Amino acid sequence: MDKKIEVLQQKITEAAKGGGENRIAAQHKKGKLTARERLHFLLDEGSFEEIGMFVTHRSTEFGLENEKYLGDGVVTGYGRIDGRPVYVFAQDFTVFGGSLSEAHAEKICRIMDLAMQNGAPVIGLNDSGGARIQEGVVSLGGYADIFYRNTMASGVVPQISAIMGPCAGGAVYSPAITDFILMVENTSYMFVTGPNVVKTVTHEEVSSEDLGGASAHSTKSGVTHFSCANEIECIRNIKRLLSYMPSNCEENAPRYPYEGGHESRPALNAIVPENPNQPYDIREVIDHVIDEDGEGFFEVHKNFAENIVVGFARLGGRSIGIVANQPAYLAGVLDIHSSTKAARFVRFCDCFNIPLLVFEDVPGFLPGTDQEWNGIITNGAKLLYAFSEATVPRITVITRKAYGGAYDVMNSKHIGADMNYAWPTAEIAVMGARGAAEIIFKGEISKSKDPAAKLKEKEEEYINHFANPYRAAERGYIDEVILPEQTRQKLMKAFGMLENKVAKLPKKKHGNIPL
Ligand code: HXC
Repeated sequence: MDKKIEVLQQKITEAAKGGGENRIAAQHKKGKLTARERLHFLLDEGSFEEIGMFVTHRSTEFGLENEKYLGDGVVTGYGRIDGRPVYVFAQDFTVFGGSLSEAHAEKICRIMDLAMQNGAPVIGLNDSGGARIQEGVVSLGGYADIFYRNTMASGVVPQISAIMGPCAGGAVYSPAITDFILMVENTSYMFVTGPNVVKTVTHEEVSSEDLGGASAHSTKSGVTHFSCANEIECIRNIKRLLSYMPSNCEENAPRYPYEGGHESRPALNAIVPENPNQPYDIREVIDHVIDEDGEGFFEVHKNFAENIVVGFARLGGRSIGIVANQPAYLAGVLDIHSSTKAARFVRFCDCFNIPLLVFEDVPGFLPGTDQEWNGIITNGAKLLYAFSEATVPRITVITRKAYGGAYDVMNSKHIGADMNYAWPTAEIAVMGARGAAEIIFKGEISKSKDPAAKLKEKEEEYINHFANPYRAAERGYIDEVILPEQTRQKLMKAFGMLENKVAKLPKKKHGNIPL
């Protein structure tokens, strides 16, 4: 018996070493943790249970039959984060560069299946050179098995991908289907093909960092939602992200105890400037509305399409998703990137029963050939579609401008919002006063002896008539015009009132969002 126990212990020790001490040292030298170290920091102490520790590849080509590592380059299992169950996989770069073999893929699929059956999130810590080149099509098949499961799990359990090393080829498409991607600055990359292939095909010379580093993907492509200074920050962000969401689509997000009451927040009265063309930071509004205990606003996609702000917060301990136009960046205009950014966030919140709060201050859609030729129509429609389809409690607060189509798109009552409030500073109209006056009073202005003065006069007339929230309130499009300082109180009560909302979509196979 002792001998047999010794054999088991030796195997466990061998598995823990991954690709060996030299490769672990190389991993550390790059400023990276190993797969097991990452799981240690991610999961509640003592909660990790490993599955498939002794799995090895079955490959016999290119001498691989003589090179086997227990676990085959991925540590899989389950554990807890803040006491809640999660399923995890962490790729081990020290074993064949974390590349994906048939056996490696089977291990990931196994925990994805368990996560689906048991209704808990899947967290993938990715560090992989892509398909295991020596295995050929078997490895490609393994990737496809994962992509299929990612798709089936989408909207059923939350899926979070951390990119903690080079991720090339197939290694990027699984994360792309998941709900959130986090990258670590300077040590992680995502690209379909690396700089060498890029040089051959397009003759561009580009570094890995410029092509697919955290900075590129968090600012230019929007592929990643979070850019993290280091691996520990990345792991902290994963835990925080999870705290806002339920374990699966049948549950509500955890509600945290909140000591405060429905406080008035007088600072809100002074945020919108007198001059309607002057910017202000919508984050100030958000910060003054949400709970002050806890960690404040958790912004998603912070450095991408900054004309719209999205993220999670708590209101009276309830988890909410916030979508807000940002007047401090491009006047908060809606363009292609801001529309797709917000649409994806709205759909995530709706999948997982997280109520939506919208702050609106939007001059309209961005005009121009660049936007038109790149499809602002189709992309703007994504946001319209996402809001229209969302059945979670939805509330809008119009702080200032709500012009044109953007008024409709930004969670208007007409597309299913439950409660819409406006501040007295709200301007709800088809377009800005100058443009409107130029069009509807064109004849009168051109015949005038002083066209400039006439235009000004007509502009004033239009402002007095429409640049306020009362026309919309008369129609019931706005439920109440409120003092800014009352916003938090009103929202807390309204979200409480909507707590048991039941809304169903018409029976269908699935809708056809304009992709
Ligand atoms: C097998 C691999 C591997 C792979 C790396 N290794 N990638 N083994 N299959 N795909 C091994 C290396 O042989 C090496 O083994 C160890 O991992 C570390 O690799 P290095 O190159 O020394 O490390 P580094 O310099 O940090 O470079 C990492 C890397 C690079 C950027 C990931 O290895 C690389 O470019 N790999 C290939 C990427 C790729 O083209 N993958 C296939 C994509 S096609 P030793 O024994 O020396 O430690 C694909 C198709 C799926 O994925 C498509 C689905 C849609």
